[in-house]
Amino acid sequence: MRKLIAGNWKMSCYGGEAIELTEQINAGLEANPDLGLDAELLICPPYLYTGIVQSVLGPVSDVLVGAQDCALSENGAHTGDISASMLVDAGCEMVILGHSERRQNHEESDDLIAEKAERAFEAGLKVILCVGESAAERDAGNAEEIVGAQIDNANFEGADANKVVIAYEPVWAIGTGKTASVDDVESMHGFIRGKLQEKLAYGSDIRILYGGSVKPDNAKALLSVPNVDGALIGGASLNAESFLAIAQAGIDAAEQMAAE
Ligand code: 13P
Repeated sequence: MRKLIAGNWKMSCYGGEAIELTEQINAGLEANPDLGLDAELLICPPYLYTGIVQSVLGPVSDVLVGAQDCALSENGAHTGDISASMLVDAGCEMVILGHSERRQNHEESDDLIAEKAERAFEAGLKVILCVGESAAERDAGNAEEIVGAQIDNANFEGADANKVVIAYEPVWAIGTGKTASVDDVESMHGFIRGKLQEKLAYGSDIRILYGGSVKPDNAKALLSVPNVDGALIGGASLNAESFLAIAQAGIDAAEQMAAE
C-alpha cells in the first residue's frame, strides 16, 4: 500500500505563500516524478486557497487537495460555514475531521465530528479522522482508553477502506518538536489496528497515519513502524523540500518493509 503523505497547512500561509509553496512542490515533482507515483500526496490549505492551489497544481497532478474541516450542515442558511459538497465542488477529495485544534478551540465533540463525517461521506469526500490523547491523559495511563473511545464514537457508516483514514496525533506532539517514541507509536498504532479490525470487516485495510512533529530527519523511522501507513504533517509541510523529503522517506520505508 502506498503511504499517504498529507500536509496540513493549518492557518499558516497567505495566498501568495500558498502559490509559491505549490509551485515549489510542482517543481520538486517535475524533478522527481516517482515521488508523486510511489507515495500518495495530499495538501490541505486553508479553505480560501484550495481553489488557488488546485489551479497552480494544474489539471493533471499527482497531488490531491483536501480541506481542514467542513460544516455540520448541508448548504443553506449557515453564515460562515463551508459545506462538504462545496468542498467537492471546489475539487477537494479529502477532509480532515476532528483535529485536536478543532476539538480544543471549537469544543468539537465526538458526536459532532461523527455528524460531520456523515456529511462528508454523503458528499463523496474521504475523511481523515484525527484521534489522540493529551499529555495529562498519557501521563495518567489513559492514552488507549481515550483513543479507543474516539474510534468507538466515530462514524463509519457509508465508509469503506478507501473512504476513511485514521490519523493518530498525540496532542502533546503537535507543533512541539516532541515526537512519540517509535515504541509508543508501534503500540498505539497496533491498538488502533486491533480496534478497527474488531469493528469493521475492512479494518485491516484502513490507513493509519502518524502526526505530531514529523520532520525529514525522523520520518523514515516513524514511517517504518508497522501499521504506520503515512504521515499527517503540520509545520514541515510548509516547506516543499521538507514535505517531499518526508514523502521520499515514506517510499524508502515502504520499500524496505516490502523487502523484509
Ligand atoms: P506538526 O507537524 O507541526 O507537529 O503538526 C501536526 C499536525 O497537527 C498535523 O495535523
